[in-house]
Amino acid sequence: MSAFDEYVASFGSGAGYLNWAAFGPISPVVRAESVWALDQLAQADPAEHAPVFARATQATDTIADLLGAASDEVVLQASSTHGLAQALYGLSGTVIASTAEFPSVSLTLERAAQASRGALTPRWITPADGRVTTDAVAEVLTDDVAAVVVSHVDFRTGYRADLTALRELLGPDRLLLVDAVQSFGVVDVDWTVCDVVAGHGYKWLRAGRGTGFARYSEQARARIRPVLSGIAGTTSNGLFVDELPAPAASARAFTVSQPDHLAAVRLAAGAAEIRDAGVAAVEARIADRIDRLIALADEHGIPVASPREPERRAGIVSLAPEDTDGLSAALTDAGVAATARGGAVRVAAHAGTDDATIDLFGAALGKFISG
Ligand SMILES: Cc1ncc(COP(=O)(O)O)c(C=O)c1O
Repeated sequence: MSAFDEYVASFGSGAGYLNWAAFGPISPVVRAESVWALDQLAQADPAEHAPVFARATQATDTIADLLGAASDEVVLQASSTHGLAQALYGLSGTVIASTAEFPSVSLTLERAAQASRGALTPRWITPADGRVTTDAVAEVLTDDVAAVVVSHVDFRTGYRADLTALRELLGPDRLLLVDAVQSFGVVDVDWTVCDVVAGHGYKWLRAGRGTGFARYSEQARARIRPVLSGIAGTTSNGLFVDELPAPAASARAFTVSQPDHLAAVRLAAGAAEIRDAGVAAVEARIADRIDRLIALADEHGIPVASPREPERRAGIVSLAPEDTDGLSAALTDAGVAATARGGAVRVAAHAGTDDATIDLFGAALGKFISG
């Protein structure tokens, strides 16, 4: 069996689960690693703790590998929102963001602006369909813009922003800050065009909560003040007393305290699994699953609000019938897990989404249409 086939097989049956954009059920490998780590940490013996503690470095290294970044540019965070907060609270100037973003972007930017006493100013855009296209950004791009913060894949519409085109538009001097929650590990993209990438492991990496991470490029570290830097983020490698060391030059400056080692174990396992399976292969399999979900929606005349071009989408399909409550109820009755919100029903497929799940989805759409 190839590593990819093993990866797909690890999803088991779980027919009907199309809610990967909300939460990814924990993978068998991540579960086994968690049990191992708990047993290790339950021993009253530092030698048993050491291999668990070492997983924090392993997690950071694997995430860095997947991002094409140096390990010292990547740090573990409690959540992706923590990673974004570290960046946004330290920024000054004008920052472009969409009002339709997940609040980890929009609310964090607003709070950071409020705390900045006028140093940071959001420039809100409300693009058509909530899609942060390069044209939508170009329309409001002026000399005073310091950064753009955007979700790589929008949590509602499933729209995948063109990061390379955004980088070209911004030029080398402005920062590109990216929320990678709905794409990291499942979209094979050049992350090095971004200055900050924040993500987490509890959806597509199947690693549970507490598994946030973020990368801060050299340019990001030069331009973002580590205002939320804490005791783990200094130039000192150990405990310090009677001195107050400066923030580290590496991304460690953007950390507060030591990582949650049990979360790091899970993230290390989930990230290694997807790296070994191959992100490009995972992306291709998801694209195939999404093609089939879209084809079924078309067959039943249900409007698809998300992009159809594979390069502008990832694992999310947004369905927008007039009766979203009815569709949501039909899916629930058929045993299909999805998310209904804001006049649309979101379904999300992963590489392990099997034919039985797609058939259930099709049958539920048929029932919904036939009333
Ligand atoms: C695009 C996006 N960003 C951020 C988050 C929140 O991430 P966290 O819980 O790691 O802060 C979510 C959660 O659904 C999301 O979809």
